[in-house]
Amino acid sequence: MRSQLTIATVFSCLALEASAFWRLPCRGRSTLQRIDPLVNPGLPAGHVHTIQGPDTISIDSTNEELMAGSCSSCQVKQDKSAYWTPAMYFQHADTGKLEIIPQTGGMLVYYLQRGENVTAAPPGLRILAGDPFLRNFPYRTIEKSLWQAQDRTEDALRQKAVGFNCLNYDEPANAALGLRAIPDDPSKCKDGLRAEVFFPSCWDGKRVDSPDHKDHMRYPSLMDDGTCPETHPVRIISLFYETIWDVAAFSGIEGKYAFSDGDPLGYGYHGDFMNGWDQGVLEQAVTECLDPSGVVEKCGVFQHYTEEEMQSCKVKNIDILEDVTGPMDKLPGCNPITHGPERALNATCDGTPATNPPKDEDQSIYGDIASSSSLSYIPLIQNPSPTTKPELLATLITTQRPTQTPTQTPVVPEAPTSDPPTTSTVNLHLVIVTITETKTVDVYYTPTPPTVPKRRRHIHGGAHRHKH
Ligand SMILES: *[C@@H]1O[C@H](CO)[C@@H](O)[C@H](O)[C@H]1NC(C)=O
Ligand SMILES: *[C@@H]1O[C@H](CO)[C@@H](O)[C@H](O)[C@H]1NC(C)=O
Repeated sequence: MRSQLTIATVFSCLALEASAFWRLPCRGRSTLQRIDPLVNPGLPAGHVHTIQGPDTISIDSTNEELMAGSCSSCQVKQDKSAYWTPAMYFQHADTGKLEIIPQTGGMLVYYLQRGENVTAAPPGLRILAGDPFLRNFPYRTIEKSLWQAQDRTEDALRQKAVGFNCLNYDEPANAALGLRAIPDDPSKCKDGLRAEVFFPSCWDGKRVDSPDHKDHMRYPSLMDDGTCPETHPVRIISLFYETIWDVAAFSGIEGKYAFSDGDPLGYGYHGDFMNGWDQGVLEQAVTECLDPSGVVEKCGVFQHYTEEEMQSCKVKNIDILEDVTGPMDKLPGCNPITHGPERALNATCDGTPATNPPKDEDQSIYGDIASSSSLSYIPLIQNPSPTTKPELLATLITTQRPTQTPTQTPVVPEAPTSDPPTTSTVNLHLVIVTITETKTVDVYYTPTPPTVPKRRRHIHGGAHRHKH
């Protein structure tokens, strides 16, 4: 016991030093639409995205237009950035019909201090992380703690930046990016499937965008840590997105899960970012918001939208009038579900594209359970001494139960609660652990204890859309 406490103390010190971050809740959703102002400005996008940010997000919004927004579905008032990822769908085996999977709790965006001399994302920055066409993931078998010794090509690092967690809050939390792919039976993820993407944080210092929206950025040597290449020497604050899909809503129903781009595996998962920050505030936050709890309210430079303000911030215009919730015969944009390993092709709708008016989907497709998790990036001991037992390395992995308020600091657990992250004795560089999980929709604004969340176990047809 004594040695455990010692190790825990060491880790919390390292965490203090190395894991400064803030966690930005995006509690509403600005739009669910087949638009992508970064990759396909002015044109219908290839697939549907769930998009968080200001009301000025549109099919061709620029960073300046984002900044002119009058609200945001994310909490910090001085941030009008746009954040988006593909939406997730369920295809019924009996009818072949597809319908949107309810999303739980919006999105969480982590702004993390990783590396040296971290600076703010420059004004106008746009980044695409991940590759929607990817259906093969050769690096998926590599244990995360061994990444340091493994392939650091840009392709490998990109693949390491995408991952999933099968959430079950009755069990100890697993490390973020813990699964390399969507699990075989996602309906077993009782509290949702959390999709995650880490953004590259090394900037070339010159361009705020590039033709593929990636070339101006590189991953550092360890993907979420390490050093930047000489070609991209400027370290910006790291972005990490978490989005939870209520896959368990379909448990007991036979069918298939796939992202909106026709990806049933997860290898094509991706995220987009367009900087819409008040630049001065972002720069101040990068130097001042160093609280290791990640609690956004602890950052004095931010002003905050209320839960209601976030929930009610919707885009002013729907640009693509089509049904994006289903039940429907094809994914919007007609993406076929493809299993690879070859890359997916661009989809075409050879018949008439869906032109049904959009349904009143917002609000209602959110699940009952919101999750707020807190990441801590903890560098492990470089060369663990023979006396450092792997199980001790797991002492910071824990799950905190509800009744939390976000002003609470994550605590160091008393006992190991999870399998050790590794049993290897080679250089361990870092482990990403989820140290807080909470369970109430109103966790940020309701001081009263949370109510027990109601679950919709079986959803038939589109009944859930009228729930609220
Ligand atoms: C960080 O800045 C210091 C001081 O300018 C410099 O000596 C150091 O090399 C920088 N580190 C990196 C990784 O650029
Ligand atoms: C597919 O779409 C992407 C993005 O719109 C485009 O860059 C690419 O050239 C297209 N590929 C083909 C084969 O049409």
